[in-house]
Amino acid sequence: MFYISNENPYESEQECMLIGLLDQPEKFLEGLKQLDDAFQGKLTELVKTGDISAKYKLVTVLHSLGNTPVKRFIFIGLGKEKELTVERLREAVGKASKKLKDLRVKSFSIALDTFIAGDISAEKAAWTVSEAYTMASYEFAGYRKKSNKPEVIIDTITVFTNEDKKKIDPAVKTGWVFGTGVNHARTLVNTPSNLLQPSDLAAYAAKLADEYGFEIELLEKEEIEKLGMGAFLAVNQGSEEPPFMIVLKYQGKADWTDVLGLVGKGITFDTGGYSIKPKDGIVGMKTDMGGAASVLGAMEVIGRIKPERNVVAVIPATDNVISEKAFKPDDVITSMNGKTIEVLNTDAEGRLVLADAVTYAKMHGADCLVDVATLTGGVIIALGLDKTGAITNNEEFYQEVKEASNKTGEFIWPLPYTENDKKRVRSSKIADLNNSPGREGHAIMGGAFIGEFVENTPWVHLDIAGTATSDGESDLGPSGATGVMVRTLAMLAIGENTQG
Ligand code: BES
Ligand code: ZN
Ligand code: ZN
Repeated sequence: MFYISNENPYESEQECMLIGLLDQPEKFLEGLKQLDDAFQGKLTELVKTGDISAKYKLVTVLHSLGNTPVKRFIFIGLGKEKELTVERLREAVGKASKKLKDLRVKSFSIALDTFIAGDISAEKAAWTVSEAYTMASYEFAGYRKKSNKPEVIIDTITVFTNEDKKKIDPAVKTGWVFGTGVNHARTLVNTPSNLLQPSDLAAYAAKLADEYGFEIELLEKEEIEKLGMGAFLAVNQGSEEPPFMIVLKYQGKADWTDVLGLVGKGITFDTGGYSIKPKDGIVGMKTDMGGAASVLGAMEVIGRIKPERNVVAVIPATDNVISEKAFKPDDVITSMNGKTIEVLNTDAEGRLVLADAVTYAKMHGADCLVDVATLTGGVIIALGLDKTGAITNNEEFYQEVKEASNKTGEFIWPLPYTENDKKRVRSSKIADLNNSPGREGHAIMGGAFIGEFVENTPWVHLDIAGTATSDGESDLGPSGATGVMVRTLAMLAIGENTQG
């Protein structure tokens, strides 16, 4: 769907062209010179009167009225060159991409060289522009009997550039791969739980394995019982839907050493169990498998880019529902690593399923671990809706994750994790651990609990309860699932060798 061309962008017939404008008079007018000639100098006039502006994120649509073979131009303000970062570029292009939807075009082109500025290389610009477009144009189809929107699908995107096609082509593809991983994760999260059961998550993982050649292990209830995953099983106990422990392995190195473990909370619906959620708090709990979706999205990116890195993904998939068989507050359960847990709150189920999942990831050779989970409402109270909370036992590994997140613009922020926090999760009078030591600092308690199973393996916990979904639309997507952490996890696995 993306084509790269070294031809003059303004000379062929096109429905619409995206042009970046820097707020820097010489560059601005120099970039527009060729176009200005086609408009007999009238473009400069529009710039002078402020009708076309390079103000950051300002979108201007200009119809050529037959003056050029290109029918319409979308100008997107990029602001000052020295302030332009990859993140700012991504958002600006996202905003402009949304305009394309309103214009209902079937194809468009990008004047790529107008987006190469400051520290942003040609490859990085190509990656960023295609990633931003791919993410921003996402829509969840929904289930209405009759859609009132006419279907307009953009099937051709031409990227015009004077740069070498051989370096631009893979960078554009990488951006599309990252954006597509995000979009597929969003669709998983937006899908209601009656249509996305644990078995559907398992089938989805199997499809990924088939497409990208991953080794796959799908543990069913009997095997989970045999392995003694008592914490995971307790959460599933009240359900008619069978649980699955999903394992995907990507081997990018000759030997299975130096393995990155990605663990994602896969609660397909969280009622809270007998510690039942109130009627307002329960709505939206189809998204409690957001961590699993992030891991699956990242695996898709990894499967396509094929980095020289070993990765094991582990997803405990179950719902958390009530029946006469369901687990109850006060129950004491035994996890796979032998530690016993006093259940004080059945709504603190994420840490239970993740406890056995991180143990299992270590059994599969993970040398470092990242778990991703919609774990606590507490992280929203602590950091708001736009920051993912992090907990780590290893500063060096945290810096690696932080660097990956800086590159993707997915903000993470560390929460303190001290000896006192460890003491609190070990405060049960009758078991080794308790799953809910009180509401104070409970985002930290959630992470600290998982830490008891990670032990000494370098680990970062990412609580995405606030960031996995969004009530409003952003420049990079609609309201609903965000697909947060897909790109950060993929970037972490792929590292410096990524194209662009
Ligand atoms: N799935 C929820 C956390 C959540 C809350 C995700 C809001 C997305 C939006 C989790 O299982 C939960 O219920 N956590 C409890 C923990 C408490 C009982 C210690 C919470 O945060 O209240
Ligand atoms: Zn819960
Ligand atoms: Zn939950």
